[in-house]
Amino acid sequence: MINKIEELKKEKDIAILAHYYTDGQIQALADYVGDSYYLSKIATEIPQSTILFCGVSFMGESAKLLNPEKTIIMPDSYADCPMAHMADIDEIERVRKDYENVAVVCYVNSTAEIKAHSDVCVTSANALRIVKALPNKNIYFIPDGNLGRYLANKIPEKNFILCDGFCHVHTSITRENVEKAKQVHPEALVLAHPECTWDVLELADYIGSTSGIIDYATQSEAEVFIICTEMGVLYELELKNPGKKFYSVGHRQFCPNMKRITTERVLEQLQNMSNVVELDEEMYDKANKPLERMLALSK
Ligand code: 13P
Ligand code: SF4
Repeated sequence: MINKIEELKKEKDIAILAHYYTDGQIQALADYVGDSYYLSKIATEIPQSTILFCGVSFMGESAKLLNPEKTIIMPDSYADCPMAHMADIDEIERVRKDYENVAVVCYVNSTAEIKAHSDVCVTSANALRIVKALPNKNIYFIPDGNLGRYLANKIPEKNFILCDGFCHVHTSITRENVEKAKQVHPEALVLAHPECTWDVLELADYIGSTSGIIDYATQSEAEVFIICTEMGVLYELELKNPGKKFYSVGHRQFCPNMKRITTERVLEQLQNMSNVVELDEEMYDKANKPLERMLALSK
């Protein structure tokens, strides 16, 4: 299958992008692997006319919005992030009416329609920098309430209005389980994604995006880590740090949507190219703006 995938990629001028939460096998066959910020940026820089995006729908949609001329295909059209739907357009309009000088800041884990009603997108890798730099006093942060709360704590000079969206994978990580893991591995550092709940983040030695977690563990002199994010990151963590030990805090740190992406489905889509990302014409202009603004503000 791997040989066939390599052949088809060359023959059809296709680049494979994969998120760190996909299975290790998928990360191994991809041309570019990274966090959601890196993947949206690299999608605008690579020469190939077609991208096979091993990630969930909002990632494929963002790649399409930023590259309308490219063909974006998804290995599995049902791989969707539930949190991407957890903001309400009417509520956005209500907040805009109720608050003066408000910026609607949209986590990139959101549908194109939600992005179209927002002012700027962020990922967990650039959210702090971008929100700090915004001139607005009021920030309506959608859809992730946990990332929003983390940012509100880090940027006390701004007034945050929070949404109640959440990631079921990260909220399955409990403070109690992190404490138990720390009892078993007292020397371990706790590395957490900001989609975790506040009581978990309070226990963390480092909080950051998937690539932030990987870089921190790689540069750290510590040898043992408790990982509070989806366990797909283990592939890159172990590849880069053969002597170090990484532990999860439970058995539910798996994103079932990311795990829908299999080698069989990658091969099938390279052959058929049937799961093409298509968006309504009006989305290109409206939803593209907050994404472009994110890329400009991250430079
Ligand atoms: P990163 O932006 O850190 O890669 O995270 C994406 C994501 O889906 C987190 O659940
Ligand atoms: Fe969505 Fe959570 Fe999966 Fe990330 S880990 S894609 S936020 S469900």
